[in-house]
Amino acid sequence: MIPVCRTEDLPEGGAVRIEIDATTPAIAVFRSEGALYALDDRCSHQDASLSEGWVEGCQVECPLHAALFDLRTGVPSCLPARRPVRTHEVTEADGMIHVRPAARENTVREDAYA
Ligand code: FES
Repeated sequence: MIPVCRTEDLPEGGAVRIEIDATTPAIAVFRSEGALYALDDRCSHQDASLSEGWVEGCQVECPLHAALFDLRTGVPSCLPARRPVRTHEVTEADGMIHVRPAARENTVREDAYA
């Protein structure tokens, strides 16, 4: 598990972006309605950071063209995004939030939703 931040550094409706290394896509960790979610921090439509989007309920709205992604599954519910983004395991314990990046085998194929 990779440390993200202290519990108090991720308030309700907020997001934190973490960069792990040069070969791993950045991850956005969200808190909404008391739950934590982690997605790749790159919209599947173009190169926008979902951690800069707007969170409401179980969705985040991309800040560039307003595609909505389900925080639980990474699946978009409207255009212009068509492909899901990866989700990651996120935990909170002892005042810290941690994330476990999804295995590479779970990477969404670029042509899977063309
Ligand atoms: S970059 Fe996210 S909807 Fe276009």
